[in-house]
Amino acid sequence: MRQFFAIIGHPVSHSLSPLFQQAAFDEAGIEAAYLPFDIPPEALKQGLSALRTLNVSGFNITLPHKEIMIRETDRISETAREIGAVNTVISQRGDWIGDNTDGPGFLQALERFLEENHLPFPSRVLIFGAGGSARAVLWALARRRIGGVCLVNRTLTRARQLLEGPLPAMIPNRHPCALDDPSWKDWLRESPAPLLVNTLSLHAFPDGHPPFPPLADISLSGIPLFDLSYAAWGPDKKSFDGRTPFLRMGDPTKSPRQNGLGMLLCQGALAFELWTGKKAPVDRMEEVLRRATGQKSLWKSL
Ligand SMILES: NC(=O)c1ccc[n+]([C@@H]2O[C@H](COP(=O)([O-])OP(=O)(O)OC[C@H]3O[C@@H](n4cnc5c(N)ncnc54)[C@H](OP(=O)(O)O)[C@@H]3O)[C@@H](O)[C@H]2O)c1
Repeated sequence: MRQFFAIIGHPVSHSLSPLFQQAAFDEAGIEAAYLPFDIPPEALKQGLSALRTLNVSGFNITLPHKEIMIRETDRISETAREIGAVNTVISQRGDWIGDNTDGPGFLQALERFLEENHLPFPSRVLIFGAGGSARAVLWALARRRIGGVCLVNRTLTRARQLLEGPLPAMIPNRHPCALDDPSWKDWLRESPAPLLVNTLSLHAFPDGHPPFPPLADISLSGIPLFDLSYAAWGPDKKSFDGRTPFLRMGDPTKSPRQNGLGMLLCQGALAFELWTGKKAPVDRMEEVLRRATGQKSLWKSL
């Protein structure tokens, strides 16, 4: 019987997951359909009930439902519990297991980007944003025993709360900071071998400008930039520029940089493996992503 998989979110029409997950099922010879469902928060209960009725085999969750899904599953994995969010549900004989592949996917993608560009693993990381994906990034960095992290967010209390959890406590140097507080620049100046990670959504970059003062007074030269966003579509919604507004900050100094397409691939491949128990056809999935976006490499600096 044909299996049924899905991605839920609001909005979800921009998602590239249906494209590369369907290609993965086809490549693996698994009879399955992977479909997007736009479900606003107020309709989440009804949407999930419909997925149960339709006997969904598994699904991905994107904004804004990842955190609430912790309470909507029958069991959760250790990773999902530690991150505090679910981005993948696996149905086992009707029981829903919530897992999170964002944290491991981020780590795999970051390591591959650093390796392909002959860069060392950073000793300290400055993260913009303190939302759901920042939790996954922190989880990954804590596991790699990073030496220090600075969390810069519009809402300072959110950054503080995030750094108070048991996992970040494993990171010796922790600095929460508001976007308009210049102390994060000092933290960056004092950091040997830092990395800048952006988890702010594209809404934070109106007209392409970052929501913080220009970084001109900090030499970005040699500091790698890694953005979780990838959807920098051109105004015609057809052309794709992989250099997101955050990555464009590195234009003058030619900093090594990469967008979130590699992480998208890695978290998606891990979800495929959780659903099917088979090795994901990663080359095929990557080929589909490269063709859809026109981006030549998901790993080499843009
Ligand atoms: N590549 C991948 O596989 C992957 C995986 C996961 C997520 N992502 C991307 O990561 C991004 C963030 O996702 P998320 O789940 O972390 O979202 P989220 O939980 O909604 O967090 C959004 C963050 O952006 C900030 N923000 C929003 N609008 C802002 C504005 N106008 N000015 C300043 N800050 C603003 C929020 O600050 P406040 O706390 O002050 O509201 C918060 O820190 C999205 O673009 C998503 O597509 C990519």
